[in-house]
Amino acid sequence: MKIRVFDLPSEAGLYAASLIERVVETTQRPVFGLATGSTTLPLYDALVNLDHCGLNLSSAVTINLDEYIGLGADHEQSYHYFMNQHLFSRLRVRPKEMYIPSGDGVNPQAECQRYDAVIREHPIDLQVLGIGTNGHIGFNEPDDLLLLNTHIVNLSANTIQSNARFFQSPDEVPRQALTMGVQAILQAKQIVLMAFGEEKADIIAKMVDGEVRTEIPASVLQLHRDVTLVLDKASAAKLTVESLLR
Ligand code: F6R
Repeated sequence: MKIRVFDLPSEAGLYAASLIERVVETTQRPVFGLATGSTTLPLYDALVNLDHCGLNLSSAVTINLDEYIGLGADHEQSYHYFMNQHLFSRLRVRPKEMYIPSGDGVNPQAECQRYDAVIREHPIDLQVLGIGTNGHIGFNEPDDLLLLNTHIVNLSANTIQSNARFFQSPDEVPRQALTMGVQAILQAKQIVLMAFGEEKADIIAKMVDGEVRTEIPASVLQLHRDVTLVLDKASAAKLTVESLLR
């Protein structure tokens, strides 16, 4: 696991954007797995800046990790809305295809199967991840087992509480989501996990230095051969010197 620690999230975002640029330049039809959440904002700002400086994402395909069940694409807290607001609507030219699971369809189970077919058709070159303070990646929550395919998940109390900051009240946070499973994440050729802030320091130390356990879903990334952690000093504060020098 490569670990890069930056003073500022904005510098980290620029670095992560440069990893995306490298894939765009070396791949004919680059496929990016994308995340939402506050951690991704410096990356999307940097990508928008690069787009204005000449980076062309028009040949790219993007596949988002997850979406809340019950929120339509026009709901301000839906991940469809987030992606449009923070990335897609700000680009000169949008990616060729943009996939986000639909959270307001009548048959979420069928949507999971449709989404897995999308992922099979578009193998992911680079997967962007954030991490929950409980170790979730996408919405793969800590549990006795981790599911491989796209599935419906009951959000944990921890996730509902963390994400309540985006809603008027915790009662408004959806209780369920659709999420890509860990197989699609682990099959990505390259994984870039970003984390900022002292509230992520404990979980980053556990995912890097602890055992691989389903209670810490992000720890499965230890099994992947091309993972880069893009951190700020606060989120890296509890890593051992050995991990930092590895
Ligand atoms: C969202 C997602 C989540 C977030 C995680 C961190 O698409 O995949 O795993 O990355 O909850 O969220 P923030 O960045 O808001 O702390």
